Amino acid sequence: MSLLLLLGILLLLLLLGIGLYLLTARRYQSANSVANAYDQWTEDGILEFYWGEHIHLGHYGLPPQRKDFLVAKSDFVHEMVRWAGLDQLPPGTTVLDVGCGIGGSSRILARDYGFRVTGITISPQQVQRAQSLTPADLSASFQVDDAMNMSFPDQTFDVVWSIEAGPHMPDKAVFAKELMRVLKPDGILVVADWNQRDDRQKPLNFWEKPVMQQLLDQWSHPKFASIEEFAELLEATGLAAGPVITADWTAQTLPSWIDSIWQGVARPAGLVKFGVSGLVKSLREVPTILLMRLAFGTGLCRFGMFRAVRTRPTLH
Ligand SMILES: C[S@@+](CC[C@H](N)C(=O)[O-])C[C@H]1O[C@@H](n2cnc3c(N)ncnc32)[C@H](O)[C@@H]1O
Repeated sequence: MSLLLLLGILLLLLLLGIGLYLLTARRYQSANSVANAYDQWTEDGILEFYWGEHIHLGHYGLPPQRKDFLVAKSDFVHEMVRWAGLDQLPPGTTVLDVGCGIGGSSRILARDYGFRVTGITISPQQVQRAQSLTPADLSASFQVDDAMNMSFPDQTFDVVWSIEAGPHMPDKAVFAKELMRVLKPDGILVVADWNQRDDRQKPLNFWEKPVMQQLLDQWSHPKFASIEEFAELLEATGLAAGPVITADWTAQTLPSWIDSIWQGVARPAGLVKFGVSGLVKSLREVPTILLMRLAFGTGLCRFGMFRAVRTRPTLH
């Protein structure tokens, strides 16, 4: 095949991807629109094929090292456990995994740390898939529940854990309150999330605004909070003992974006498995992934880590 023909095909595929990207945005409308998006991503199996059982970024160390994409993702879970001090907790600790996807974190927390994990997601298809991936002897169960209005009584869990679910929440203050509400006294909240830079002092500029809008519209996100804002909202619940601890893991997670596109090239079996429709669906996501890389690489977005401890009741 001549080089010119190959370039022509690549250009055509790129144009097709961009066209689909613009025509088929998945704008946030309600929790239902989020559930539908994840139901579809779960049913066709493409996301799981390329991203594995973790629908979150990988941790590549600091400075970042070359790593297998899927290994970086499970490493992320262990890094988050260590960062929050959960490795000091005894087996049997109860954990709520809020926005659990297909249960990748929940299974690691149950298998490697002996925790008793409950995972919730807004997507019924994800619950089914999480259940089918979880061996019967593992203490991890899954159910559909809305993180904005959880069905659990106050003070139910020793630990509340959440990875990359926050951008789907329409009201971050309600989300913060719900996360803290279901924690037991002295319980630990640990959240890892995509955030926007704090724009209260310096508003988003001429290019940041449209890029941010695309990141919201393409993957059913109503809004990103900033690290500073979300920490303030957790403190404003009045349920956090002392200041909320935060960290910025942008550098550690940044290689994930290009790595995730590279999966499409490095694992051509996906092309055979999912055919032309799979190729088209995958191409559709490429512009968003590149915009994410741009946003996280330039400081428009930041990868935020949050740790809070629930207050003890005061004795009278
Ligand atoms: C990017 S995925 C992350 C999944 C999982 N934490 C992981 O790391 O593999 C976002 C998750 O948040 C869930 N989610 C979004 N909105 C939700 C809501 N209102 N209530 C519960 N889960 C929600 C989605 O269903 C999905 O499972």
